[in-house]
Order: sequence, then structure tokens, then C-alpha cells
Amino acid sequence: MGKIFVTGGAGYVGSAVTELLVGAGYAPIVLDRFSQGHRGAIEESIPVIEADLNDTATLRRVFAQHHVDAVVHLAAVSVVPESVAQPLRYFRENVGGLIHLLEAMQEVNVRKIVFSSTAAVYGTPEQTPLTEDCPTVPINPYGWSKLMGERILSEAQKAHGLACVSLRYFNAAGATERCGEVHNPETHLIPRVLDVAAGRRPQVEIYGTDYVTPDGTCIRDYIHVADLAEAHRLALDSAAVCSSVYNLGSGCGYSVREVVSCAEKITGRRIPCAEVPRRSGDPPVLVAGHEKIRAELGWRPRRGLEEIIASAWEWLERHPHGYA
Ligand code: UFG
Repeated sequence: MGKIFVTGGAGYVGSAVTELLVGAGYAPIVLDRFSQGHRGAIEESIPVIEADLNDTATLRRVFAQHHVDAVVHLAAVSVVPESVAQPLRYFRENVGGLIHLLEAMQEVNVRKIVFSSTAAVYGTPEQTPLTEDCPTVPINPYGWSKLMGERILSEAQKAHGLACVSLRYFNAAGATERCGEVHNPETHLIPRVLDVAAGRRPQVEIYGTDYVTPDGTCIRDYIHVADLAEAHRLALDSAAVCSSVYNLGSGCGYSVREVVSCAEKITGRRIPCAEVPRRSGDPPVLVAGHEKIRAELGWRPRRGLEEIIASAWEWLERHPHGYA
């Protein structure tokens, strides 16, 4: 099975990936700087290194000590408006961090990496659902930093024979048995909606009701974090030595209002909303076509929006103070 080095393995998606890898018989080793990650999200028996990807000495030491078979690279900064305000930091951390990681891998001949990319590489799409060959024209530095990451991996594949799989996440949401979504600050729709249901926020702001969509609000493709995690396992298991890119979404789009109604139904609580102006940089519709990953890796989404929201709600009720 093998030792898998998971960068960002204590974060929201990273901890779900780590949990799934343990269940599948892999031996993960987690690197996290704990700016958004949580120790409580990681089982105590798993080795955890608290460090940053800019800490090249630690990276080298980890690769020298543990005989790593492959890397899942999730560590990144990922808040779109923050990336607009601090582009240099986003490029340093996301692009520079990847290069440090690849150099350390190369020194010890680790030849496989699964990279967390994003739907933000598409910018404002011209078609829906999006296929992997749609134009990639990011509209913010975060999207550019991930697109550059994909490009760097493709060049490393050509030059060094590195096997790389980039997974373009759409909207990760929901919770597993152990891992839930806890960001500080929280910007994502579903946790904010559930905070209102839990009485921790007075209302949800709906960012824009004048989009060209059936109910005027933005449509997104929400994918359960456990389905997302499963794709990483399949990518690790795939034998191909090439550079592949896959969309990772459910293929179904839901508007902001539909998410709120679904959350009202699941929680049995009323969720007050306030209609506010658009948030800048939000494309009206982002929905993944996932035929490629289905055909090539055998992945398919198993959980729909109701299960996503129900799992997140259940986790929130069990963890009213997050991981604290
Ligand atoms: N939204 C609201 N109110 C809120 C929060 C969000 O109306 O309080 C809306 C947003 O405007 C958007 C939708 O709900 O239309 C989803 O917003 P999220 O912030 O949950 O997610 P995004 O689609 O903005 O972000 C996701 C990923 C990013 C990625 C981006 C690509 O989380 O990492 O898609 O566009 F960059």
C-alpha cells in the first residue's frame, strides 16, 4: 500500500483525505503548519510534522527519515479575495511551496504526486457543465497560482517522468465521521448557513440576486468531502505515469437559495436571509462535467446535497465548539 506524505493533512479536505487513506490501509504522514489545520482532525497514531513548505530543511529531513511512496499535496492558501489583496503571498506560498516540495521529492526519487487544484482555474466559464478542455483563464491570483501549479507538474512529468494527477475541486462541503469544516474566518456558504440554523449568526447574506440563473442567485456544484477524498485514493492507485487533470464535482448545480431551502428542511429551522450586492469575482454558474474521472479512474459521486448538508449539520451538533 505505502507511505503517503499528505501536505495540509490537518485541514478540512486534507484531514478527510488522511482519514480515508488510513481506512484504505495506507500509512499517511501529515505535514501542516496549523494556520487552518486542527490537531483534533488527525488520529493520534499518525505522524504529524508541524512545518511550512518554505522550511526546506524540514522537508528534506522528512523525506530522508520516512520512505515516502507518494505525495498528496493540499497545503495552500485558498481564500479568493485575500489572493486579490495579497497576490505575491499567494504566488510565494502556492507556487514556491510546490517547487520546494518537488525539489525535495526529486532528491529522494519520490515519483508520484496528487495535487489539489480548483475550479477557479476556469475563471468565468463560457459553457456549463465544464469539461477539462475548457479554456483556463483564472480571474484571481488564487486561480492563477493553482493553474501555474498544474503547469509546473506537467513540465516535471515531461522532464523527470513524475506521475502527477491534478484534481480540480468544485465546492467541497459536508463532513465525515471525524472531520468537519472549521475555517477562521469562515467564508463558505454551507457552514455559514448552518451557523444561522444553529443560532450563531443572525442571518445569511445572499451575495447577489440578479444573476442570469433561474432564481437570480449563483449556482455551484457541491461535492461531499468524503467523495472528494475517495478520488485522491483512486488517483494514488492509478498506475499511469503521466500528467492528468480531472474535474472533481458532482455534475449537479444548486443555487444559493436552493442550498438555504435544503438546509431549512434538514435542520427543521428557519434560516433568515438578507439580499446584499454581488461579491466580486463570483461566476454565475460553476458545474463540473466529471465524465473523464469517471471513465479513467472509476470515480463517481455517491452523496448528494441533502447528505452533504445533513452530515455537516450532524457534525456541527456533535462539535458545537469545532475542534476546540
Ligand atoms: N455565498 C453567499 N453567501 C455567503 C457565502 C457564499 O451568497 O455567506 C455564495 C457565493 O457568492 C457563491 C456561493 O455562495 O455564489 C458559494 O460560495 P462559497 O464561498 O461557499 O464557494 P465559492 O464557490 O466562492 O468558492 C469555491 C472554492 C474556492 C474556489 C472557488 C472557485 O471554495 O476555493 O470555488 O470559484 F476558488
